Amino acid sequence: MSIATAEKTTDVAQADFLPLQGTDYVEFYVGNAKQAAHYYMSAFGFQALAYAGPETGVKDRASYVVRQHKLTFVLTTPIRSGNPIAEHVYKHGDGVRFLALRVDDATSAWEETTKRGGKSYLEPQRLTDDHGEVVVSGIHTYGDTVHLFIERNNYSGPFMPGFRPWGNPHFAPASTGLLYVDHCVGNVGWNQMNPWVKFYEEVMGFRNILSFDDEDISTEYSALMSKVMSNGNGYVKFPINEPAEGKRKSQVEEYLEFYDGEGVQHVALATNDIVGTVKDLMSRGVEFLKVPNSYYDDLLDRVGHIDEDLEPLKELGILVDSDNEGYLLQLFSKPVQDRPTLFFEIIQRKGAKSFGKGNFKALFEAIEREQAERGNL
Ligand code: FE2
Repeated sequence: MSIATAEKTTDVAQADFLPLQGTDYVEFYVGNAKQAAHYYMSAFGFQALAYAGPETGVKDRASYVVRQHKLTFVLTTPIRSGNPIAEHVYKHGDGVRFLALRVDDATSAWEETTKRGGKSYLEPQRLTDDHGEVVVSGIHTYGDTVHLFIERNNYSGPFMPGFRPWGNPHFAPASTGLLYVDHCVGNVGWNQMNPWVKFYEEVMGFRNILSFDDEDISTEYSALMSKVMSNGNGYVKFPINEPAEGKRKSQVEEYLEFYDGEGVQHVALATNDIVGTVKDLMSRGVEFLKVPNSYYDDLLDRVGHIDEDLEPLKELGILVDSDNEGYLLQLFSKPVQDRPTLFFEIIQRKGAKSFGKGNFKALFEAIEREQAERGNL
């Protein structure tokens, strides 16, 4: 059991030189964007929104944009070999390339971050069409992951200049109630957590709001460490994980091996009705990790009163944890591609601002059972 007494909080007083309005979109580089878009629509309940590809004058790729409430995913695939998108997919498999953040001023965002040491990916660029203009800039973060800054206050089109509306009136699966990105977790290499914490503090003005050491996050076999970085208004939260020494291979090491480098481990998607959302996702074929039924035996003793009936939570395998501000319900999908890399978390917050520390042990044991099945534990 953990000997750490509390989730540690530190305060770094810094002016908000990078005001963020939240996540604008998440772009995945995938092996087959047409089919991936269909999966996110049919299984996760996204709606078709926009498309760019050879028909719109883009010669090396095809991109499909899907949306559900405030969640926007872009699925991009190379249509020829020998370009950076093809190399990304060859090396990493399907994964997150861009975590795009909404800003009022993408030029200032780029200037403020690059002058603090951020490595430029894209100097501010104005993209225009009949619907107005979008300004985009970007900096590199861990691995091959990039933060784009998107300024779209003067744009009324469906997505971005260069994209055309896309959809099929005969195929419009209902929403599953997913609302927005709650947080997005990165896996980094040995001894790399603190350098990336420093990057988010110094280059992007984030604060370290929670830390978990290997005593907090360990099972009999493996361990990891994590620090949660948050921007000033709390709209954007990036926990950063690194592996820690254990008897066997940490899940973070398995990720690093199969992703062939650092990258996004999971994206947490918020819902206001986790029971309804998860039932819906399961019935559409989304697979989730399962904790043993014994998890529920002393659940209410651990978390106190909850509004939900216990039975449906138990039946669906939904996890509950509490902190001094309330509680949260969460559940983790299995990896959504054949490599044991990216997965999704479904989360409903009822006051709690934490990340489910009380569930780490049960959860990681469930992950390890899957790792063992793959022969990677
Ligand atoms: Fe999470």
